[in-house]
Amino acid sequence: MLKKEWQARAALLEKALIQELREEEALDLTLCAAMKYSLMAGGKRLRPILLMAAADAVGGRGEDYLQAACAIEMIHTYSLIHDDLPAMDNDDYRRGKLTNHKVYGDGMAVLAGDALLTLAFEVILRQPGIAPETAAAVVREMSTSAGPNGMVGGQAIDLESEDKHIDMETLRKMHMGKTGALFCAAIRSGAILAGAKPSELRALTAYAEKFGMAFQITDDILDVTGDEATIGKPVGSDARNHKSTYVTLTSLDEARRLAEDSVEEAMQALTIFDDRANFLRELVRYLVSRDK
Ligand code: IPE
Ligand code: IPE
Ligand code: MG
Ligand code: MG
Ligand code: MG
Repeated sequence: MLKKEWQARAALLEKALIQELREEEALDLTLCAAMKYSLMAGGKRLRPILLMAAADAVGGRGEDYLQAACAIEMIHTYSLIHDDLPAMDNDDYRRGKLTNHKVYGDGMAVLAGDALLTLAFEVILRQPGIAPETAAAVVREMSTSAGPNGMVGGQAIDLESEDKHIDMETLRKMHMGKTGALFCAAIRSGAILAGAKPSELRALTAYAEKFGMAFQITDDILDVTGDEATIGKPVGSDARNHKSTYVTLTSLDEARRLAEDSVEEAMQALTIFDDRANFLRELVRYLVSRDK
């Protein structure tokens, strides 16, 4: 059930991504090609899928919010393009293809990232069928979570933690920022768009935080144990860059246990929901066993 629904929604999203890119209006064709290269390189499409699943969980229809779903995927893709740059993780492969800067050069990769981030906000405002206050609330979610106290802040801690021993609390904050924040924005945006009650929004926020934590711990584990062809990005990137991760600060076994604890807590957060949250339940269970 999970796989089929996931694929169907990813296909809908990818069609919308192409449309929202509006290639025919491009001022610069190389920039547009660079944006499209990373955006359409595949990827699990987890954040837009979560946005839609959160809308379903509160009684809405996920497919009604494709523009908002595109926006979160654009922000995520920008974060990956910049994360791979020589000045950051200096990685050559992403989503099974050469990284953006390897194809288009560092300068164009910086611009492709900038462009995807800003386009995301334009695309949210193209979301039909929602009140201006709802659009503003989604913009607030996505901008604060992508910004200095969210993803970018987490990436800054990550950068500063290279070659250093950081404590568990700093590591937790780093994960919450660099990864957790965008998951929170995705899930909360889906819930807000579908008119969630405050209690539902609180429960989904707790789910999102735990989901994000389990996800990044698993990403750290896969950086050690993963298969390059399957994950589509280099294994050993963290070690090469002397990063602090859950694996280096604890051990592989302990990291696995911590990821499983977070999954358990995420499941707990969903107890107030009926069957409409089953997709969210299946997704978080998939997390601990994922190999990509
Ligand atoms: C990778 O995210 C970056 C992290 C936050 C760990 P994903 O594993 O969701 O990457 P894609 O979108 O599937 O390529
Ligand atoms: C970065 O974490 C997450 C973001 C891009 C915000 P990582 O550096 O661990 O992500 P991967 O492993 O390169 O995908
Ligand atoms: Mg990184
Ligand atoms: Mg990286
Ligand atoms: Mg990683």
